[in-house]
Amino acid sequence: MTQKQLQETTEYLISKGFDNPEIGIVLGTGLGKLVDEIKNPITAHYNHIPFFPLATVEFHSGKLIYGELEGKKVVVMQGRFHLYEGYDFIDITYPIRAMHALGVKKLLISNAAGSINLDFKKGDLMLIEDHINLQGGSPLTFKDVARFGDRFVDMSQPYDLEMCNTLIETAKKENISLKKGVYASVVGPQLETKAEYRYLKIIGADAVGMSTVPEVIVANHLRLPIAAISVITDEGDPDNLEPVNIEEIIRIAGEAEPKMITLFRELIKSL
Ligand code: HPA
Repeated sequence: MTQKQLQETTEYLISKGFDNPEIGIVLGTGLGKLVDEIKNPITAHYNHIPFFPLATVEFHSGKLIYGELEGKKVVVMQGRFHLYEGYDFIDITYPIRAMHALGVKKLLISNAAGSINLDFKKGDLMLIEDHINLQGGSPLTFKDVARFGDRFVDMSQPYDLEMCNTLIETAKKENISLKKGVYASVVGPQLETKAEYRYLKIIGADAVGMSTVPEVIVANHLRLPIAAISVITDEGDPDNLEPVNIEEIIRIAGEAEPKMITLFRELIKSL
């Protein structure tokens, strides 16, 4: 990953009309509908964007959408890249660096996650207050990292307090139940065993998923303030564990999605 590549990526996007977006948004599994609310959208398919990771079959619909939301210029990732698709940490976080290079000043992230804290039920939203990286690596382990920011990135407060507070206030106002907790990231794509769900509880996780943490590390590397929300799509109860059902995970994400859209819209309005 080089500055030159990023420059080529942004030149392509600017030539498509991606003009100085202020806010970047990453939409997780089953959470793509926010893009329907974007005014004057311009779409760039990941496959066509220079130096974006090559999309896998399952991922052919991935696209970057530019436009207006709540009067702000936004750029939205509909679908993200995961380690389990065979990409490395640098690949999966390249789009975050590209959005930053385009001029994005704040980042909003969403994902689907399983609950470890069993007070959290399917369809609940969880504000990510902190995280645990269980993916066995970092997106900052490359030679030139110091050219892009600090090598030893501070992670004492990875999620922007002001944006988090706005989300909490908005949830109260809109009567949306918003849990708060710690997100643990795993590689996947297999789901967790009962023993792994027990372990995740012991180490202090409230939810588990296969994304987000590398993106948050890179955002902190770039000093890009971020806020992130998990949609709880399944419950990791080791004593009553049901077999995984991906269709159900996607359906539950879709059902909870309007609440997430409301929170993101109100947050964007306030920025
Ligand atoms: N585990 C890991 N990733 C997930 C889960 C889960 O239970 N649910 C959605 N993504």
